[in-house]
Formats: sequence, structure tokens, C-alpha cells
Amino acid sequence: MEADLLRRAARLLGDARRVVVLTGAGVSAESGVPTFRDALTGLWARFDAQRLATAEAFHADPDLVWGWYEWRRARVARAEPNPGHRAIAAIQTRVLDCTVITQNVDDLHERAGTRAPIHLHGSLFTPRCTAVPAHPATFGDTSGGPGQPHEGSRVPPPRCASCTALVRPGVVWFGEPLPETALTAAVEAAVACDLLLTVGTAGVVYPAAEIPQVAARSGATVIQVNPQPTPLDPVCAINLRGTAAQVLPALVAAAWGETDES
Ligand code: APR
Repeated sequence: MEADLLRRAARLLGDARRVVVLTGAGVSAESGVPTFRDALTGLWARFDAQRLATAEAFHADPDLVWGWYEWRRARVARAEPNPGHRAIAAIQTRVLDCTVITQNVDDLHERAGTRAPIHLHGSLFTPRCTAVPAHPATFGDTSGGPGQPHEGSRVPPPRCASCTALVRPGVVWFGEPLPETALTAAVEAAVACDLLLTVGTAGVVYPAAEIPQVAARSGATVIQVNPQPTPLDPVCAINLRGTAAQVLPALVAAAWGETDES
């Protein structure tokens, strides 16, 4: 990655007053959490998404789908935030008005210190009742802690304590609408920001992929961090070709003279 591009990006970030950071699975890759579409390691390469990430799949085979999400939750619980997550938390301490929007369902942004990230696709840590979403739902005593289900194991989902309906993962499945409050807040932040940093997303799943384009149309500068080109390249003023854990700490250091490790 060119040093000049990083310097330009750091100057823009250091001067920005309202910043949005949008992240995808790539920001968690260096924490050992697999992405969805990277060749070979991508989660979908090893699983048929239709079999696992739709409401129909869950109702057809709740134990398989719940078991897969519990396996993912256990993997995330064993993972640690990486320097990329910590650099994003550092940006939020430097820029008063900084909104972090993530497509990820892990809790690594929170564990790195990011305040109130907007989860566009829900979270592995917010299970909910299939009958009444407002019912408080837990992981149940059988799988309370992130157990050790191995990949592909079947785990019966807990039942809602209020109405005994099945509890489901609190993630957005293919074909389901995004949480309205999250999407509205994300679009409002993108319209109002003067700089949007998009990190580790392939930019192919909508409406999340629209967020950087909304920011660009509203006059914001968009900067991308991704080792690969994506369909978002054309709306980006700067494309930093590198990984989150390498580029983001360098970007923070160049913008504010410190690393996120400090
Ligand atoms: N640092 C930065 N980016 C990386 C890294 C890394 N270390 N490793 C991979 N990437 C990039 C890849 O080049 C790719 O562009 O991260 C992106 C990961 O793309 P996807 O796996 O498609 O993840 P994402 O864009 O977040 O997927 C969006 O699709 O399946 C749904 O709901 C799921 O939220 C997910 C959505």
C-alpha cells in the first residue's frame, strides 16, 4: 500500500468532524473469525447458506441451524478483537461524532471498546423468541455459555420462558428485512457524515452496501480498507489495499500521532 495514499487518508480522517465507519466480515478475519465470501476460507464455501441462514431452514431443522449459530458463537467467544477493531475504537475516542456501523454479528467491536455499534444484521448474542420478538430470550441453560458445539453439530434451541415458542438466533436471515431502527440510524449517519471509512466488506449485500454510496452522494469522502478491489471502489476517494489489522493502526497513528496499542 502506498505511503502517500495513507498520508492523504490520515489527513482527511484527522480533519473530519463527523465520521462513519462501516465494517464487514473482513475486520474480524484477523481475529480468526471466517468471512463469508473469501475463497476457500469463506464460511459459505463450506456450508450451503440456504440450508443454514434462512427462516425456512430454521423451521425445517431448528437443531441444525441453532447448532451452527452456537458453533459460530463459541468461535467468536474464543476470538479476541484484533488491532483493527482497537483502531476503530480509538477513532471513536478521537472524533466526537463517530458512528460505527457493522454487518457483523460478532461482539468484537464492543469488546474492543467501540461504543454502541449499529448491528445492521443483528447479533449472535441477542437470541429472540420466534413468536413474540419482544419476549426476553436467553440461550437456555443447556447452551447458556458458548458451549463447544463442533461444526455441524445439532443443538436443540431453547424455548421462550414467556410462551414456550422456540428461541432463534438474533441475526437477520436472507430474505428478512433489516432491523428498521438500525437501518434508519445507519442511513442518517451516512447522510450527515463528512467522511465514511468502509473496512472489510465485499460491498455486494444490500441494503448495507448502499451505505457508502449514500455517504458519497451526500458529499462525504469515502475511504476503503480492503486487500481486494470491490464494487465500492468507484465511490471511494482513496482505496487502501491492505488488511484491517495492518492498515487501521497505521491510519490512526498517521492521523493523530499514536497507535491504537498506546
Ligand atoms: N482485512 C480487511 N478486509 C478483509 C480481510 C482483512 N484481513 N480479509 C478479507 N477481507 C475482505 C475481503 O476482500 C472481502 O471483500 O473482507 C470482505 C469480506 O467479504 P464477505 O465475506 O462477503 O463479508 P461481508 O461483505 O461482510 O458480507 C456481508 O453478507 O452473508 C451476508 O450477512 C452476511 O453480513 C454478511 C453480509
